[in-house]
Amino acid sequence: MNNFEFYNSTRIIFGKGTIAKLSKRVPRKAKVMLIYGGGSIKENGVYEKVMDALKKHKVVEFSGIEANPDYATLLKAIKQVRKKHVDFLLAVGGGSVIDGTKFISLASPNEGIEPWDIISRDLAKDLKKVIPFGTVLTLPATGSEFNHNAVISRRETEEKLSFSSERVYPKFSILDPETTYSLPQKQLRNGLVDAYVHVMEQYMTYPVGAIVQDRQAEALLMAIIEMAPAVLNTNHPDYDARANFMWVCSNALNHLIGVGVPQDWATHSIGHELTALYGLAHAESLAVVLPWLLWYKRDQKRDKLLQYGYRVLDQKQQKYSERIDRTIEATAAFFQSVGMPTTLTSFGVDPDEAAAKVQARWEARGWSLGEHGDITGADAAAILRLSR
Ligand code: NZQ
Ligand code: ZN
Repeated sequence: MNNFEFYNSTRIIFGKGTIAKLSKRVPRKAKVMLIYGGGSIKENGVYEKVMDALKKHKVVEFSGIEANPDYATLLKAIKQVRKKHVDFLLAVGGGSVIDGTKFISLASPNEGIEPWDIISRDLAKDLKKVIPFGTVLTLPATGSEFNHNAVISRRETEEKLSFSSERVYPKFSILDPETTYSLPQKQLRNGLVDAYVHVMEQYMTYPVGAIVQDRQAEALLMAIIEMAPAVLNTNHPDYDARANFMWVCSNALNHLIGVGVPQDWATHSIGHELTALYGLAHAESLAVVLPWLLWYKRDQKRDKLLQYGYRVLDQKQQKYSERIDRTIEATAAFFQSVGMPTTLTSFGVDPDEAAAKVQARWEARGWSLGEHGDITGADAAAILRLSR
């Protein structure tokens, strides 16, 4: 096992009726900015619950954070935060609202710095000033409510890039599974796939003797497969299914299973380009890459593919090459079973065109990713050309 330090400062407040606890968790004297998306919280009753809990607080609102939060929108929020002297942020929504809030939290108090440099020049780690924030999660998927990452899109340049900083751990996150009852099946599917791929990025590399992390990762993958049919039931949403769903997504990316082990993240980096270039939803962009990346890297990932196939997907073929084939197929079949396509062509995207564009971008940035740092632009392109 590799050396590591682990730190996660987010308080999780989990369960039915917990939005009411905002009244105690949000500092009483703060000027609060409530940040949300396109309005789903007004349709499902979450907005009323939040406002009711904050009726004794001073609250201003900023709405309209889009899926894949846009830099231009976030700049407007930053301006408002400064103008109105806001000193606490409350994100109510999914990963996009929470990630956008992380960026607002970091950029607003650091006035001398060009906000895009925080991301593109990796300044996030050096910035000490932040506006503290909490979250009310309404879409289980990204783990953003329990981690220190954020992913920001810049539509004018078709870029989508991430940053991380320990300073953007939420102070608290409220996880009330009932907020998920209004989610359409497509978002539930996206959440299941995103969480699955988060575990895979931290697990599907090469063995370093980390029994605890491996077994925890396998447990999360098996839990996602087990709960998927119940989670996808939108006619009669089941509380326990949604509670398990929320908790598994949070656990998939709160940095715990990634300690002391190599990590990959190339699927995410390729996927972010596909979202920026072609508008695929985040999880869609992962499902059209992961199976093909596993295929392309099957020799380097051989030991872990055999372990994963045997333990998680019940693939016990004696002939190892056959077990790896069936394991990769079973991974794609799981995505398809929740209604998620696994090829670029299913989204009407030409794999050759996507490959050329992504290769050019990666080469311009000098990127070489994956657990061995050896997935170049040419490799990303080769992976995408398989996705047909
Ligand atoms: O904007 P509103 O009206 O709220 O609608 C949203 C949005 O259209 C809707 N929604 C959210 N909760 C709902 C609901 N609709 C009905 N009922 C509810 N309870 O769902 C739509 C999608 O929301 P979004 O927040 O975009 O989805 P998600 O949570 O999947 O977040 C995706 C973003 O997170 C980034 C992605 O790249 C993408 O930008 N990620 C962030 C990560 C992190 N911070 O660690 C890791 C991930 O790998 C990912 O990259
Ligand atoms: Zn993801």
